[in-house]
Amino acid sequence: MKILAFETTCDETSAAVMAGQVLRSNTVFSQIKLHRKYSGVVPELASRAHLEKIPFVLAGALGAAGFRLPLKRGAVDAVAFSRGPGLPGALLVGRVAAEAAAELSGAPLIGVNHLEGHLLACEFDKGRAVRRLEFPLLALIVSGGHTEIWHARGYGDYRVMGRTRDDAAGEAFDKVAKLLGLSYPGGPEVEKWARRASGKGPDFPRPFMPGTWDFSFSGLKTAVSYYLAKKAGGDARSLPDGEKALVCRAFQAAVVETLVKKAADAARSLGLRRIAVGGGVSSNGALRAAFAGLEGFEVRFSEKAYCSDNAAMVALCALRRLEAGKFVNSLRVSPDLARPGWKSRG
Ligand SMILES: Nc1ncnc2c1ncn2[C@@H]1O[C@H](COP(=O)(O)OP(=O)(O)OP(=O)(O)O)[C@@H](O)[C@H]1O
Ligand SMILES: [Mg+2]
Repeated sequence: MKILAFETTCDETSAAVMAGQVLRSNTVFSQIKLHRKYSGVVPELASRAHLEKIPFVLAGALGAAGFRLPLKRGAVDAVAFSRGPGLPGALLVGRVAAEAAAELSGAPLIGVNHLEGHLLACEFDKGRAVRRLEFPLLALIVSGGHTEIWHARGYGDYRVMGRTRDDAAGEAFDKVAKLLGLSYPGGPEVEKWARRASGKGPDFPRPFMPGTWDFSFSGLKTAVSYYLAKKAGGDARSLPDGEKALVCRAFQAAVVETLVKKAADAARSLGLRRIAVGGGVSSNGALRAAFAGLEGFEVRFSEKAYCSDNAAMVALCALRRLEAGKFVNSLRVSPDLARPGWKSRG
């Protein structure tokens, strides 16, 4: 079974080919440089860059997998694309590319939920999707746009238990980095600076939101901004490097403790012993270390190469759907994808 997949939800243009459980190629063009000066993704620029890069990304992925353009009839068995959640213009570029590939190859088109991709990325082991997730499990999706806890009962059978009410964890990392005058994307920067911290620093509140599985990171971000205003007046960028590092460590510790405690408590509430963590923030070393120290749980992360957006995870979602003989019929792009066929919260 050969699957060609596209990913264009946000600021990565990616195409991938899987043959059976083997990832034959995964070409990713990142737009980070384009958006850096704005400290965040500019939707219109993202759509244009996807449009510009997708032919090259597709040719790269096909070439690396041993195919040539134009795609021949029967060359692949399915074409997949992320149909949401994501930026509307960006999603349309991926869908149109996928439609063209499906038309040329005569293969069916499968719309995939990007967030499920972040979860299933945990199955890759050196380019082979052989570390199958064992269900039921507790899924924690922590990315630039989402922070969600799911009760995952099988492939495609997910119940959303909680989600962020304001900023996503990755967004909070990006905004705190901006407050400190650090580069974009903020997550890896904050992690790097936090590693350099030594001595006693500030302590920020943990937004545990008792009585709910939801998250809220905007108050934590505000606490950091008040602290910086007090310490450095109007310009936090003038703060000495040692102080910046302490702020990064304290902020990261608050996010990590919140994520780990809530995921563990949610898993315990369901009697689950397995946790899988996906999304860009899941590459954070402090988060991984904290989950590793959690007793009584088997915690899975994806290899770091598959934490941020990529089409390999999209191909894998489609593969698991095809193996089960069921896939999403609607090919409409959906910026706030309301998980078709998924059990609702509650
Ligand atoms: N080491 C890290 N520590 C913390 N955050 C990180 C790290 N690496 C990346 N991130 C954060 O991950 C986010 C990007 O992740 P990802 O690509 O999964 O998000 P997205 O695709 O933009 O959003 P979504 O998947 O919700 O649509 C950014 O906010 C980035 O700062
Ligand atoms: Mg993503």
